[in-house]
Amino acid sequence: NIFLTDTSVSDPSFGSLLSHTGAFKDAERLMSNAYGTLASFINVLGTSTSNKIVYMTLLNKGDKVIVDRNMHKSIIHSIIVSGANPIFLKANFHPDFGIILPTRKEIVLKQIEENKNAKLLSLTVPTYDGLRYYLPDIINYAHSYKMKVLVDEAWGAHMHFHTDYYPDALQSGADYVVQSIHKTMGGFSQSSVIHVNDKDFSERKRDFYENYMFFSSTSPFYPIVASIDVSRKMMSIEGKQVLERMKKYYNILVEELDKMEEFKVLRKSYLRGYFEDINEILIDYSRIVVNFSFAGITKKQIWNYLVRNNIIVEKINYKSFTLLLGVGTTTNMVNHLLRVLKNFKYEKRELYEQSHFFHWDDIEVKIPPFEAYQSEGEWLELKNCENRISSNMIVPYPPGIPLIIPGQIITMKHIENILMIISSDDIEIHGIAKGKIKVVKEIK
Ligand SMILES: Cc1ncc(COP(=O)(O)O)c(C=O)c1O
Repeated sequence: NIFLTDTSVSDPSFGSLLSHTGAFKDAERLMSNAYGTLASFINVLGTSTSNKIVYMTLLNKGDKVIVDRNMHKSIIHSIIVSGANPIFLKANFHPDFGIILPTRKEIVLKQIEENKNAKLLSLTVPTYDGLRYYLPDIINYAHSYKMKVLVDEAWGAHMHFHTDYYPDALQSGADYVVQSIHKTMGGFSQSSVIHVNDKDFSERKRDFYENYMFFSSTSPFYPIVASIDVSRKMMSIEGKQVLERMKKYYNILVEELDKMEEFKVLRKSYLRGYFEDINEILIDYSRIVVNFSFAGITKKQIWNYLVRNNIIVEKINYKSFTLLLGVGTTTNMVNHLLRVLKNFKYEKRELYEQSHFFHWDDIEVKIPPFEAYQSEGEWLELKNCENRISSNMIVPYPPGIPLIIPGQIITMKHIENILMIISSDDIEIHGIAKGKIKVVKEIK
């Protein structure tokens, strides 16, 4: 009974999460041992908060940070609170699957070269769809200019427990790695960990603790800590077997899906042309990206059909849906999914649907994001916002990757794109309220 597991911070017998003492200290030490870090910290407010803690620890107002285009909205919140000055990497979009890919390696290296004075390189690996790129060369290059490297590994906490995934971000030399234990391991929602391997951490330790508390509640939900600790233990003991089982399910699903003419699974061969060397890209077997558009199936058809049959996909766009295999996936679940997908053809009808994509354009800011966010703004009809500076983020959810961020100029292309999509789909978009968005007030 979850209600009986909650306890008050007033009970001192556990120690304190905010002071990292007692049972919490033990849990963090065991976490650090499991991942081979200098230190690891448990955070019960999600990786959304872990990102902010790391940014606030490493960056002062005006410091330059190189940021993945494929970033979660919490990275933009982190940029805003820290007052940092972001330079964004170029987007790499796959129109046939409708997904954002990792940035091309040569582009990351070029941006590092052109922004040697950046304090931080902030990458998102793996992507929401489970794509990873080979990190050691990039991290070494950033370190050669004394840049710290943060890897948002929210979707990759499991990877440390199987050699298939080596090298993961920590093994590649990242200074800070944040992970959501609730995404691909067994923690409750909001369970997150901050791993530290920064050799200069002792200089920053006090700031880190302050920032940890700055972004914490004074009444943390301790059952989340327990769920993180149990997940760590489970994966430390039997992670390899759990991931072998997941790989087996992945292989079964991919083999069976390939036999169905309606579906095509994302494989490395579809990534040719998007990367100089596709061998540097690894597809995580906890995710399967399934394209349904080649067969003329519409998003509404497949979505409604799956929901009716108790299949909740991790996310869907007009071209593909992404399946997430978990540490608790069972043979029955895999068989049910296959049965449902195999039966789909009997429901197929030729419906016409236009496929719309959000334009994940490259981001360049006109004024610093913190300035745009904190300035006096006004809520205007989106259609009247051409050439205005956005004060908020516009973020379709999922995947939670911003289309527009504070400080960016809104173009007619953005407006037409967003209006077209909201008129034809009931997708959740953060930052738009009844057709209005917030922009920076113009000085008359
Ligand atoms: C790449 C990435 N980072 C961070 C987060 C936020 O994680 P959490 O939900 O644990 O706050 C997400 C959530 O989807 C994400 O996809």
